[in-house]
Amino acid sequence: MAIHVTHGPEHWRWVEWLLGAGAVLVAYVAWTGWIDRNRLIVDAFSFEEALRRADLWDNPRYKRPSLVRVKERANGDVELVVQGLPASIWQKPEIADPFCASFGVERFRSVTQDPKRRDRVHLVLASGSLDQVVKAAGREPGTRRLPKPKVKRDRDDEDAHPAARMSFLLGYGHDGRVFWQTPVWPHLLVAGSTGSGKSTLIRLIMQQALDRDWLVYLIDPKGGVDYLELLTWLAEPMKEFPQDALPLLETLWAKHRERLTKLKEAGVSSLREAHQQGLLLEEKPILLVVDELSIFSSNTGGKDEKEVRVRAHTYLERFALASRATGIALLLSAQYPTAEILGSQIRQQVWRICGRVDDEVASRTILGVPGAEKLPPDKPGRFLYVEHGELKEFQVTLP
Ligand SMILES: Nc1ncnc2c1ncn2[C@@H]1O[C@H](COP(=O)(O)OP(=O)(O)OP(=O)(O)O)[C@@H](O)[C@H]1O
Ligand SMILES: [Mg+2]
Repeated sequence: MAIHVTHGPEHWRWVEWLLGAGAVLVAYVAWTGWIDRNRLIVDAFSFEEALRRADLWDNPRYKRPSLVRVKERANGDVELVVQGLPASIWQKPEIADPFCASFGVERFRSVTQDPKRRDRVHLVLASGSLDQVVKAAGREPGTRRLPKPKVKRDRDDEDAHPAARMSFLLGYGHDGRVFWQTPVWPHLLVAGSTGSGKSTLIRLIMQQALDRDWLVYLIDPKGGVDYLELLTWLAEPMKEFPQDALPLLETLWAKHRERLTKLKEAGVSSLREAHQQGLLLEEKPILLVVDELSIFSSNTGGKDEKEVRVRAHTYLERFALASRATGIALLLSAQYPTAEILGSQIRQQVWRICGRVDDEVASRTILGVPGAEKLPPDKPGRFLYVEHGELKEFQVTLP
């Protein structure tokens, strides 16, 4: 860039020239994306995280893909050359959606097979779409209509080994289907005030678990009225009172210990790994449902009853911390999970989703941010969760 200064003393020319050169440099840097806040950074760590979220890290159905090369294009798009999976697998929404979301991107700009190396695929992540995602996530909860669910039969899913199907469909959000992926989050807490749709969501998950041949246990102080059609399929009769629930928790803890021993003998670190190797197939994954966690922390009742509740709660804390390896998943609900009801141990170990709550304080207690108090009261089944620091929304869709 030539800068002509016709007036003023000689030395001002140098100053103007320097300013001009600086401006050119800044413009170049911005154009190349070096200071673009949308710039995608893909390294081995973020790639691993994305694979885990897309359930490709230790999925028995697929070979784990490896990252061959990362290329950055002038327009900011990032091209990943990956090896190990065909392009058709990368196009599956249940894989592409969480993988892209992990980089803050809505979808792949393109997925193409390498023309020379058949085992390689080129995945292009469009950096420009990041803004849209941020906007969608930052929108007032409940203000935008969620997309209509697309019901698609997935033959692969139907054919898969029951143990391999470790994700539960919860509903539909702005980014597509929302799953509870037990390999990522072994336990789930469904919070929300009365009528927000907790039990309905829990029923949906229980149905899927039973379809997949999981062992399902239920502790429900409401006597199981929300689960009538499922009660006969439970691994043990439903437990209504803490004094009945405690022996169940003790039995399951013994099962956990027994499984640990078996895993050690088999030389594997988790039940999932054992199943991948065709071992311990008789040990089925377990879903332990507690519909209303406050059953174990209410302060009413005599001394003996309190002791039972405290002991039961301690077992839940132990499961939350330790049972990922042994395939025992907790599915908990709570209208208002205070620190006392939830306990910090459990809070750290569970994936928290939240339906409508009465006030901002409740939303902060559950999600760590406000928002759930703004969900529409006339739409039960609307839930929020936090992913990568962003609030995301979905609707539980009844079959
Ligand atoms: N996803 C949904 N779509 C449509 N209606 C729903 C949905 N979820 C719940 N509902 C309706 O809302 C009502 C209350 O739901 P649900 O019993 O699941 O709430 P809850 O959060 O478990 O309440 P509580 O804390 O009192 O047990 C249900 O009777 C059902 O009709
Ligand atoms: Mg309920």
